[in-house]
Amino acid sequence: MRKLAIGMIGIGVGGAEILPAMESMDGIDLVAGADIVPTTLERFAARYPEAKTYLSAKDLCEDKNVEAVWISSPNRFHAEHAIMAAEHGKHIVVEKPMATNLADAMRMVEAAEKYGVKLLAGHTRAFTIPVRAMRKLIASGRHGQLRALNIWAYSDWMLRPRTPDELDIAQGGGVPFRQGPHQVDTVRLLGGGLLRSIRAQTGQWMKERAIPGYYSAFMEFENGTPATIVHNGYGYFIGAELVPWGEDKAVYTTQERLAIRAAMRAGVRDEAAEKQAIRIGGAREEDYFRGGARSSWVPEDMGLAIASLDRADIRQSRYGVYVHGDAGKQDFEIPGARETAIVQRRAELEELYASVISGQTLWHDGRWGMATLEACLAIMQSARERREIMLHHQVSVAEGYDAGLAIPGD
Ligand SMILES: NC(=O)c1ccc[n+]([C@@H]2O[C@H](COP(=O)([O-])OP(=O)(O)OC[C@H]3O[C@@H](n4cnc5c(N)ncnc54)[C@H](O)[C@@H]3O)[C@@H](O)[C@H]2O)c1
Repeated sequence: MRKLAIGMIGIGVGGAEILPAMESMDGIDLVAGADIVPTTLERFAARYPEAKTYLSAKDLCEDKNVEAVWISSPNRFHAEHAIMAAEHGKHIVVEKPMATNLADAMRMVEAAEKYGVKLLAGHTRAFTIPVRAMRKLIASGRHGQLRALNIWAYSDWMLRPRTPDELDIAQGGGVPFRQGPHQVDTVRLLGGGLLRSIRAQTGQWMKERAIPGYYSAFMEFENGTPATIVHNGYGYFIGAELVPWGEDKAVYTTQERLAIRAAMRAGVRDEAAEKQAIRIGGAREEDYFRGGARSSWVPEDMGLAIASLDRADIRQSRYGVYVHGDAGKQDFEIPGARETAIVQRRAELEELYASVISGQTLWHDGRWGMATLEACLAIMQSARERREIMLHHQVSVAEGYDAGLAIPGD
């Protein structure tokens, strides 16, 4: 099998989440890693002795053996690193959010086009199998027209260890920037992609975190379909509790959340050490990303999505989708949904591989990512200005996307 040689830029928590997926793919050769923290590079080298290590993204981009990069550096560097990679002829997967402003996102799109490389805006929960199955069911038209979309997420994002940039909105921090792309990507995927406008509010009510940990947004598609998305990252109620199989799937137990909150209030939490513990080789990396990597869906960071159609409500189930329709409530398992989370996280890599190696369409390209970023920015702008924001950079879901995914009734 032809291998695609990949280098990772920014080997942090997001990187630690995706490395096991890379390891598990025959078509991926992890040949390099770049990070500015020497300990992280040492740990990366210990795990991947064949791979080169670099203290700067530029040095990695100059490595002739690297064909593609996975950019999981902090948000403020996404544009700089992606453009640098494109200039060196590397294909790119960039973590969400694609950039911190639209001008940067446009420069990334233009650089990819100019240098003829693939740019994939990735790693959102819109790539999960239940969401993709929902999209195909909606697009099939067999339950009538899509009438409304509603997504609610209750997470502990604000309680997880954070670096200073994650708590600075100017650098792409906070729930709307960091978690917004999961729901916006999903809403856009399910509703066809073309949002018309957004009216939103953000919320910030935790003294120890001067950054929005909440948003609620009302969106309207070009065809008039309404959608709402809500994310509450304050960690009191956790969405995983909504399903019987979810309680032990949350990032923290209830007791851990109480302890974290108490430590933050007392000002005695060592977040830098806690965060390093979930990065590569850290004491908690294993139970976070590698050990009991679950397969079942739970309403975590992206939340519970419900699509209402003429003759059914459709939502995620443990291994697929529930269709609440004229035949009653049916639970359809979707092939692939029982695979471990590690395997399911390959989706972006598989899309990149198919595009670079087999010349297939890249569905989640830079313009798709830019449209999602535009909506996330509009959530914040609408909250600031207390008005509806019109969108101008939306793109539709490309014809033929996910043709290989089998859905009930096929
Ligand atoms: N899709 C997901 O589910 C998911 C999950 C976690 C993080 N992420 C994304 O990953 C990115 C990083 O977030 P994180 O939580 O992993 O933070 P992090 O701090 O753990 O990771 C960032 C890494 O980049 C390194 N770095 C910083 N500046 C650099 C530079 N100039 N060049 C090279 N490396 C540099 C840091 O040392 C660190 O190891 C963000 O874009 C975030 O949205 C995505």
